[in-house]
Amino acid sequence: MANVAVVGSQWGDEGKGKIVDWLSTRADVVVRFQGGHNAGHTLVVDGTVYKLSLLPSGIVRPGKLSIIGNGVVLDPSALLDEMDRLADQGVQISPDNLVIAENIPLILPLHRELDEAREAAAGSGKIGTTKRGIGPAYEDKAARRAIRLIDLADPDYLAARLEGLLAHHNILRRHYDLAQIDAGELAGDLLAIAPKVLPFAAPVWQKLDNMARAEKKILFEGAQGTMLDIDHGTYPFVTSSNTLAGQAAAGSGIGPQALNYVLGITKAYTTRVGSGPFPTEQDNETGQKLGERGAEFGTVTGRQRRCGWFDAVMVRQAIVTGGISGIALTKMDVLDGFAELKVCIAYKLDGKRIHRLPASAHDQARVEPVYESFEGWTRSTRGARSWADLPATAVKYVRRLEELIGAPVAMLSTSPEREDVILMRDPFKG
Ligand code: GDP
Ligand code: IMO
Ligand code: MG
Repeated sequence: MANVAVVGSQWGDEGKGKIVDWLSTRADVVVRFQGGHNAGHTLVVDGTVYKLSLLPSGIVRPGKLSIIGNGVVLDPSALLDEMDRLADQGVQISPDNLVIAENIPLILPLHRELDEAREAAAGSGKIGTTKRGIGPAYEDKAARRAIRLIDLADPDYLAARLEGLLAHHNILRRHYDLAQIDAGELAGDLLAIAPKVLPFAAPVWQKLDNMARAEKKILFEGAQGTMLDIDHGTYPFVTSSNTLAGQAAAGSGIGPQALNYVLGITKAYTTRVGSGPFPTEQDNETGQKLGERGAEFGTVTGRQRRCGWFDAVMVRQAIVTGGISGIALTKMDVLDGFAELKVCIAYKLDGKRIHRLPASAHDQARVEPVYESFEGWTRSTRGARSWADLPATAVKYVRRLEELIGAPVAMLSTSPEREDVILMRDPFKG
């Protein structure tokens, strides 16, 4: 059996979509297992750009099955909008190629409104969320208040569940000056959308078990990244789910032994969108140049991403906490033309050198990076498809990163285009 879990090893937007799309030719099924439509995964196929938030990146490949697992939070309206957008781009979606876990919790408009209201009220202390209602929906899941997809099939049960949910939310809404919600009205809205989404609902755990038994190849597609993980990230500036590969098992209903290879998608420099500590941030010309060359604008919110040097301390930690077997190093081409490159190899905290990101939010904001300098390269690496096409200094950069992070580079990406990849080791072959 050879299944692969793809996860981000930084703060998201590492290029997971492109790599999942590339790998999906080798897979039978692509599974999302956490997050929701806060994700924005970009695929470029012969110049055509696809932006996926909720749908697995395998959806654009005819003949592949896409699964949205129970660990995801599902906004049914966002799903239908995304399906419409893709239909306009010629991608056909039906229960034949998309299956959604029947036990998936739903994001309702009240979750989005609460997310927005809290962020507005937090002022400068805001998280900088995507305002998609992700956090409030996961809170309701953990509090056992959530409405799940399968509940839409049972109007009486749905009505009872909504009473419980609204007893909680209407109190909160009064605090934020939001209109009270009538249970009957919300039930009506949900029952109206039900016939459009229920046909996709199925016991995903069983489907995956059957596929695993038939030796089908499963590709798990993570969203966000390790430093946004609710346990291992830069808490509280994180998302509300576990983003590590371990979550692929619980978030889809398959045992952890099914995860044979964990591919950590890793940008050749670092970006972050939203608030929170970022030790190697370059709030200067360097950061601006990285942002321009890398077109670093959020796929979901259009916000400018903060940019900085590669942080080997952070990625090394991500490799350990996430059990990453090897990485796909992306956006190498963005570094073309820099005379000098820097990589963070340690932090300084109160005059002492440390080799991990401290857990304290206060300390995370105070660590100072210790850099190693590298000679850059002038020759373009954009579109390179073999090692031989890379300048010697670029090869040196990659080799040193492998040493610093303690994991091999299995794949290297040199442009947004689907086929611009250098493969060193096929993750499906372990
Ligand atoms: P994801 O959230 O991890 O899937 O990443 P996003 O799609 O949000 O952001 C990555 C961006 O970089 C997208 O616009 C991709 O098209 C682009 N991209 C991916 N790989 C490369 C690469 O190797 N080089 C360049 N220049 N762009 C890339
Ligand atoms: P992909 O899958 C980058 C960030 C938000 C914010 C924090 C919490 O495209 O890599 P949330 O809406 O999840 O409650 O926001 O997490 N964030 C992402 N940053 N890429 C993402 O997804 C992100 N999804 C959430 O900017 O800082
Ligand atoms: Mg993204």
